[in-house]
Amino acid sequence: MTKKTTWSDRFESALHPAIAIFNASIGFDIELIEYDLTGSVAHAKMLAKTGIISEEEAQQLEQGLEKIRQEYRQGEFNPGVDAEDVHFAVERRLTEILGDVGKKLHTGRSRNDQVGTDIRLYLKAEINEIRTYLREFQSVLLNLAENNIETLIPGYTHLQRAQPLSLAHHLMAYVQMAQRDWERLGDVLKRTNISPLGCGALAGTTFPIDRHYSAELLGFESIYENSLDGVSDRDFAIEFLCAASLIMVHLSRLSEEMILWASEEFNFISLKDSCATGSSIMPQKKNPDVPELVRGKTGRVFGHLQALLVIMKGLPLAYNKDLQEDKEGIFDAVKTVKGCLEAMTILLSEGIIFNQTRLNSAVAEDFSNATDVADYLATKGVPFREAYNLVGKVVKTSLAQGKLLKDLTIEEWQQIHPAFATDIYEAISPKTVVSARNSYGGTGFEQVKIAIANAKSELKQ
Ligand code: ARG
Repeated sequence: MTKKTTWSDRFESALHPAIAIFNASIGFDIELIEYDLTGSVAHAKMLAKTGIISEEEAQQLEQGLEKIRQEYRQGEFNPGVDAEDVHFAVERRLTEILGDVGKKLHTGRSRNDQVGTDIRLYLKAEINEIRTYLREFQSVLLNLAENNIETLIPGYTHLQRAQPLSLAHHLMAYVQMAQRDWERLGDVLKRTNISPLGCGALAGTTFPIDRHYSAELLGFESIYENSLDGVSDRDFAIEFLCAASLIMVHLSRLSEEMILWASEEFNFISLKDSCATGSSIMPQKKNPDVPELVRGKTGRVFGHLQALLVIMKGLPLAYNKDLQEDKEGIFDAVKTVKGCLEAMTILLSEGIIFNQTRLNSAVAEDFSNATDVADYLATKGVPFREAYNLVGKVVKTSLAQGKLLKDLTIEEWQQIHPAFATDIYEAISPKTVVSARNSYGGTGFEQVKIAIANAKSELKQ
């Protein structure tokens, strides 16, 4: 414990080796290096513009920073734990390259506003990427929907057969969820797009800096109004994790449906070999690992949201080292959401086949047309509640006789109520049942076509 560290002469000796490891964030914040370099270039330019350093010094700093970028990209810059974090690692290397000029870079800023800038630049880029992934996910769903407007699938409430649906309508529900996710991320972007650079350690700086200028160079829309808030705010990160969690909720619900659909009990889809796995002992098995993993990974994203909320809740102003704990969860959430969106997009585009024969028979062999019998009577003037009760009795006796509604003879129908005519058979066929639900946003084929067209034009924007 004799070697000196980055710290000022106030410190006599280096950190205990175990504490150095405990304290260091370089193992994960190296992920931010590109943004750290970009942020530093902007800071150096601002220092020159305001006359705090010379133009020549700023140019040297920029060249030094770009050299580090090249070294990093070529795998030649691998700072260890002794660098503590990415910010110190870069500054140390810069001083090795430039000598005393390198030591001028940190004028008028602190690692507190620096790390805040880095994480915002990182999230801005990643939010845009995730939005692109969402668009691809939506367009694959849209494609599937377009090809399956007249494919029918049982619709459920309480996981009990309810009313048959257009498969496209079912898929389009997820397009809508993803649309809200896309919009929500756009909203998060607004509050991520604010620059804390120049807030200093907590109170601003004595140098005549130009925060608007560095913010503009970095593509930020505005700057934090209050320096304490600027260095300690992580609302945008929590908002991002909320948005990420909701994306995972939607992916997880779709996953759950696909897992059910792939089971022998449902048998609505088959998994293609490219997206399914086998068992090490049961040769007959083909497992839906992709949706299962997505469902499972949802838990870790929720965990990151919860963790950051708890990290923040007791923090006094302004920066506290607790904030170093924000990064790993954010990085992991970004990677998890992108990985899950990509895997689900592949699964939907080439990993599943809808079993049309099975779907056709599924919708034809249940009582999910019972509402339509009641509606039929109601259109002929029978009050709906009375019709509903009559049909309930019919379902009960049919079940006892092992019959479906379509198996009743016209005499049987007319015994139930004289209003029944031979058009009842057409009225309760699955296709009619679905296409008749032509109310706005319903599953009727005409409505589904409108929904697909609307979503397509939305996606073009
Ligand atoms: N590694 C630190 C973090 O991730 C950087 C900021 C450190 N600031 C400080 N005052 N110790 O939060």
